[in-house]
Amino acid sequence: MSFKEIGIEELEINPMTMIGGDWWLISAGNEQNGYNAMTASWGHLGAIWERPEGKAHMGLPTACVYLRPQRYTKEYLEREDIFTLSVFESNHKRALGYLGSHSGRNEDKIANANLTPVFDQGTIYYEQAKMVFVCKKIYNAPLQESGFVDTSLVENNYPKKDFHEMYIGEIVKVLVKND
Ligand SMILES: Cc1cc2nc3c(=O)[nH]c(=O)nc-3n(C[C@H](O)[C@H](O)[C@H](O)COP(=O)(O)O)c2cc1C
Repeated sequence: MSFKEIGIEELEINPMTMIGGDWWLISAGNEQNGYNAMTASWGHLGAIWERPEGKAHMGLPTACVYLRPQRYTKEYLEREDIFTLSVFESNHKRALGYLGSHSGRNEDKIANANLTPVFDQGTIYYEQAKMVFVCKKIYNAPLQESGFVDTSLVENNYPKKDFHEMYIGEIVKVLVKND
């Protein structure tokens, strides 16, 4: 199974249904030092900030993910400069459900979910993925209770006050499965 790189301009996706409905797999690490992954249905794709060498008037293509402090995957995002966001066809939803309900602290859950790691670009993604965003970590900070304008969201989402940590990655590559 091979992947090809496509340009950001070629992307034809609906981020809301893709992330919120189909989910994606956040992964980081490599074969030498270990790796982990977790399912997420929260996140954003868009543009923020600029670089002098970047395209004029076009923010950096970026992805944002939110991890609760207790996630084992968070330790890998802290350690690594690169993380990936893998998107799958719906026939892999069961695997994503597994990876979103078991912790890599206790088992080799990627093997147990029957996903085949591809070690490439100094990071990890999966043979079964249909699309992969390779992201370079550029910003990370916890969400703060004081920032909530709608405080009912705190009551509903954070009864234990375990506020998500936000990681913004610059999308350095988009890979899609070769037909
Ligand atoms: C559909 C779905 C979406 C999820 N979205 C998130 C999310 O956006 N952020 C988060 O911190 N946890 C999310 N989780 C929970 C983690 O995937 C789950 O706790 C996982 O077991 C963590 O694995 P780890 O300890 O190996 O990192 C989600 C779980 C599911 C099933």
